[in-house]
Amino acid sequence: MVSQLISRCWSWVGEQASSKLQDALLAIISAGPVPRHVAFVMDGNRRYARSKKKMVKEGHSDGFLALKRVLAICFRLNVKCVSTYGFAIDNFKRSPEEVEALMDLIEEKLLEICQHGDLLEQYGVRLNIVGNTALFPERVRVAARKAEDISRHNDKSILNLCMPYASSDEMATAVQSAVNKGLAAEDDITVEDIDSQLMTTLGRSPPLDLLIRTSGVKRLSDFLLWQCCENTQLQFSPTYWPDFGLWDIVPMLLDYQRKAWASA
Ligand code: FPP
Ligand code: MG
Repeated sequence: MVSQLISRCWSWVGEQASSKLQDALLAIISAGPVPRHVAFVMDGNRRYARSKKKMVKEGHSDGFLALKRVLAICFRLNVKCVSTYGFAIDNFKRSPEEVEALMDLIEEKLLEICQHGDLLEQYGVRLNIVGNTALFPERVRVAARKAEDISRHNDKSILNLCMPYASSDEMATAVQSAVNKGLAAEDDITVEDIDSQLMTTLGRSPPLDLLIRTSGVKRLSDFLLWQCCENTQLQFSPTYWPDFGLWDIVPMLLDYQRKAWASA
């Protein structure tokens, strides 16, 4: 009984110390240059699930917990905008069971983050669903619209959940929209015309400073290809997304700061 109490006290002290250490670390990092826009390719959910003998859908729901954890870190650091690859158009080719489980998860979590005191309200985040939402089932479209509407007046930071998304689809849609709106002067479509019609531009995202992919895979997989500009830094982590956290992202942010100072 007494030993249980002591062990609980120790773990409480440990948690408090670790939370204070985190606060201090984030405060130090936020005193230097912080990327305005960070994007994540959240890869490795199924390999994580396999390695832990969990079901695939548990890998994805643990992936959502990691997303909340990482968003809290970014917004506490005053990162203005975070973009994440929530569901690639290509992911519709996965087994019907996995697609269905992902649709359930996305619907459930979109409704969850709309709730009073949850992420969007806590950090003043405006949510943009960036992608071809017509491909979603109606129930997910409704949840997505609700989450966007509820956060429309938040102006502290931006979260772009890219789903169902492919960069090539986003660019083709932007070109079509530039043509439909008659933006092309003398039949020429300019880079600026296309840029103005991208969903990230319409959602007022700043230039992409840092793109991070987890799980040891080094590909862009049709994600934010237009937005990856001259100054976008790429970082790859061997950690599976559901395990990704503070100790993975801190060295990347320090490296970002080192390069920002070197080029200043
Ligand atoms: C990639 O890992 C991850 C996905 C295809 C889904 C990501 C979704 C979440 C983290 C939850 C999203 C919820 C919301 C509301 C956005 P993988 O399946 O490719 O895993 P593998 O690379 O190990 O096969
Ligand atoms: Mg993968």
